[in-house]
Amino acid sequence: NVLKVGIDIGGTKIAGGVVDSEGTIVEQLRVDTPTDTAALAQAVVDMARYFRGAHDVAAVGVAAAGFIDRDRATVIHAPNIAWHNEPLKATLEEGIGLPVTIENDANAAGWAEFRFGAGRGVEHMVMLTMGTGVGGAIVLDGELFRGGHGVAAELGHIRFIRDGILCGCGQRGCLEQYASGRALQREAGEIADGGGIGAALAAHRAEHGKISGPAVSRLVLAGDPGAAEALRRVATALGEACGGFQAVLDPELFVIGGGVAQLGDALLEPMRVAYEKSLPGYGDRPIATFKIAKLVNDAGLIGAADLAGTEA
Ligand code: BGC
Ligand code: NA
Ligand code: ZN
Repeated sequence: NVLKVGIDIGGTKIAGGVVDSEGTIVEQLRVDTPTDTAALAQAVVDMARYFRGAHDVAAVGVAAAGFIDRDRATVIHAPNIAWHNEPLKATLEEGIGLPVTIENDANAAGWAEFRFGAGRGVEHMVMLTMGTGVGGAIVLDGELFRGGHGVAAELGHIRFIRDGILCGCGQRGCLEQYASGRALQREAGEIADGGGIGAALAAHRAEHGKISGPAVSRLVLAGDPGAAEALRRVATALGEACGGFQAVLDPELFVIGGGVAQLGDALLEPMRVAYEKSLPGYGDRPIATFKIAKLVNDAGLIGAADLAGTEA
């Protein structure tokens, strides 16, 4: 039973753990994500060094929200973090003194769900994570699909709206701008501005200065029609995109993760409606199942640990 460290660098938290070969977390830590990239790397080093001192670990896997090269060493581009061809593996190995594997955060989460979570038992699955961005993972024939340069499965950056909202990747109208946790906040803000069903959202914003993702979720669960409409919009965007992913990849299963996914069926139901409406050949063809991620906030770190040290 080999122990490895998995560390998931999220937009707000760095979650790390020592994980065994069954995907079980032996010990876990969580710290705030520093905004400065040097401080961020140092925080990851500090966490890994602590785990290294406390357990007999063989390797370190790090999940990062960006385009990772084939060697799983460099963050080529990150839409929401200031990394440009960042040699993250080298920096972290120097600080930690163990082999480090960098993995895309959504790939890591998707891999963990496939191995130990909602995707057990299928061979072809697509994972979508709804957080700061929209992340994607593609498992085909039981393997993570990485593409020719390592950066496949950037499902959040397909063009969803022509000439749409500017995205952190440099393009306009990416799915991420319409289906992320941030998009949910923006939609909620627009609904608040419109009055009517937006009254509770507007009142929340007046009191707290902003509308956070968790606040929208709470209002959805409380039955607020404005929050429900905001959720319906992002769920519809994601569902429509899944119709296209089905056309290309034909997965058996879509697993949905990230903060917004904790809404469960309130998210999945409008997603499924939009998916079926946009599915080529609907009525004749087999369709995919939709599930909420099972490993919730731990998927990224578990997947990163499982994938650590496995590069060809
Ligand atoms: C990035 C992906 C990442 C996703 C979720 C997107 O903006 O391009 O690499 O997986 O956000 O963090
Ligand atoms: Na990915
Ligand atoms: Zn984009």
